Amino acid sequence: MTHKLTSLGILLSGRGSNMQAIVRACESGELPATVAIVVSNRIDAAGVAWTRERGIECRVLPHRDYEGRDAHDRAIVDELREAGVEWVCLAGYMRLLSPVFVTAFHNRILNIHPSLLPSFPGLDAQAQAHGHGVRWTGCTVHLVDTELDHGPIVEQTAVPVLSGDTVEDLEHRILLEEHPTYVRALKQLLQRRWTLQGRRLIWLD
Ligand code: GRF
Repeated sequence: MTHKLTSLGILLSGRGSNMQAIVRACESGELPATVAIVVSNRIDAAGVAWTRERGIECRVLPHRDYEGRDAHDRAIVDELREAGVEWVCLAGYMRLLSPVFVTAFHNRILNIHPSLLPSFPGLDAQAQAHGHGVRWTGCTVHLVDTELDHGPIVEQTAVPVLSGDTVEDLEHRILLEEHPTYVRALKQLLQRRWTLQGRRLIWLD
């Protein structure tokens, strides 16, 4: 039996290792999905070069070329729609989404954040956790709303903080967990039945 593949759009601003993990999971058949387009707001993002070498559709839309967040988001939404995107994955995309964007893909936008939310939202989450002295941190995949690192949680993986850790050690240990966590979250959302009760994402099967 063949199932239709879900079309994904991935947004990034930098390295793109989570994007690569999602692309590979699509290619291997682990995810019942295909990456229709990658969008970056930065031309110099390493993820852009990787995507283009791979022959994946990629658009660069620098936010400075637009008059404000709404206009920029509208342009991205147009690109995603044109590519037939059904789900959007933020993968190191360093911009807050406007209501224009969030409404266009209501409860169909995912983000990954390198902490166990709601602890340490915002920039440098790994350094925040390291500086706070927590024993455990990790990563969180969540649905995206208009608040920073805030929407309903889909999946989390805990990672220990070891006493000799530098911030870089911790970043690396978390990143290794981010890739499978993102793929696992996406796979479940695409394959299982689920609903939202307030902030709680409930699996129905
Ligand atoms: C990751 O740590 C992710 O959790 C955060 O930004 C970083 C992006 O890394 N949102 P990469 O571009 O996916 O390698």
